Amino acid sequence: MTGGMTNTTKLILGQTLYFNGNPLTEGLGVVEHYRHGAVLVEGGKISWVGPADHVAPPIGVETFHYGEKLIMAGFVDAHLHYPQTAMIASWGKRLIEWLNTFTFPEETRFGDAQYADLIAKRYFDLAVGHGTTSMCSYATIHPESVNAFFSEGQRRGIRAYAGKTCMDRNAPDGLRDDAQSSYDDSKALAEKWHGKDRLGYVITPRFSPTSSPEQLEALGALWAEKPDCLMQTHISEQLEEIAWVRQLFPDARDYLDTYERYGLLGKNAVYGHAIHLTEREKARLLETGAGLAHCPTSNTFIGSGVFDLKGLSDAGQNIGLATDIGGGSSFSMLRTMAAAYEIGQLNGTALHPAELLWLATCGSAKVLHADDLIGNLAAGMEADIVVLDLSSTPAIAQRHAEADTIWESIFPTIMMGDDRAISDVFIAGELAPKPVA
Ligand code: GUN
Ligand code: ZN
Repeated sequence: MTGGMTNTTKLILGQTLYFNGNPLTEGLGVVEHYRHGAVLVEGGKISWVGPADHVAPPIGVETFHYGEKLIMAGFVDAHLHYPQTAMIASWGKRLIEWLNTFTFPEETRFGDAQYADLIAKRYFDLAVGHGTTSMCSYATIHPESVNAFFSEGQRRGIRAYAGKTCMDRNAPDGLRDDAQSSYDDSKALAEKWHGKDRLGYVITPRFSPTSSPEQLEALGALWAEKPDCLMQTHISEQLEEIAWVRQLFPDARDYLDTYERYGLLGKNAVYGHAIHLTEREKARLLETGAGLAHCPTSNTFIGSGVFDLKGLSDAGQNIGLATDIGGGSSFSMLRTMAAAYEIGQLNGTALHPAELLWLATCGSAKVLHADDLIGNLAAGMEADIVVLDLSSTPAIAQRHAEADTIWESIFPTIMMGDDRAISDVFIAGELAPKPVA
């Protein structure tokens, strides 16, 4: 369901912000900001963006006036688990115990298609309500959970990526598949959904502790058959997990090798966390151009460690930003940027607001190989847009009122903002309806 008339031409006026490059590697000169900016949207795509006094809109165009509000690309969440929506913020455990205590019992419920539909709808309401317009999610082992996610994403016209989470060991009864069924189900789901409207299928072994070598091999074979699908998994999140991987795969050179030896390393791979990488792993990730998803709220919440964003970015790694719901503790990419900033400070680097915003939009889109479609405002790109209120709470408003530069205006919203800062969201050029409580 979309608001307004489908595919009408729209002129969106306010402050605009977009990128002509990557500020992490190219500096702040790549940022384009207009105090009085304009975005022209036609047929669900951006047809023009620039200063408002240069725009030549068609007569009678539907016009949205946002004044001082900030118009930018919708946020892109590079790694999350939508089935963990209902158990986010569960107390007191580290990764393996957290999976066994909270996560696996909740994921078991997704064999029930009605429950999967309910949580998919709830997840998309929360994501869009927080300004996220594209995402790459894990489902559960159940095909129903994939169908629920894609059906709801399709209904809303969202560019969304997901796949069946495959596990054939070290998981409870009711939450295991096997090598053959994971191959067959993943293949059938990819054939059903990949490339349909704005949806993309992602081959998804959960992580090497929950997959036998046979399953990793089967999924590597499937990826070789469908190389344009993304492949997502976890790597080097916690030290205990890495020690367990070493026990389970005694012949592997390192954690990455447990994927690499089965054909699960390549340019279209997205590895979540990647905190405790060895030099060999970093070198192989760089050579292949694989993507890394930085999950800062999760890395603190589960106690995983400090991701070296600046070091990895300076070395040329491809990095996006992610909530990692529900190991992550927030649906908000603003809160996620704030956590990335805090972790940067622990690492001796103050990330600039432009760098944080780039990671949450262009950076994640690049990791998903969709940066020619989403994650920025530019002619020809899909019109997924967020409108940010830079004075959304009294605490933010009093900081914003004293700001002398656009960055001083934006940074308090990054650090203290949440869904109250999201004034409007456009998906493929249509105003998204506000979720009803
Ligand atoms: N490693 C394997 N599965 C998961 C998961 O669901 N969340 C996180 N944070 N790490 C994982
Ligand atoms: Zn994850």
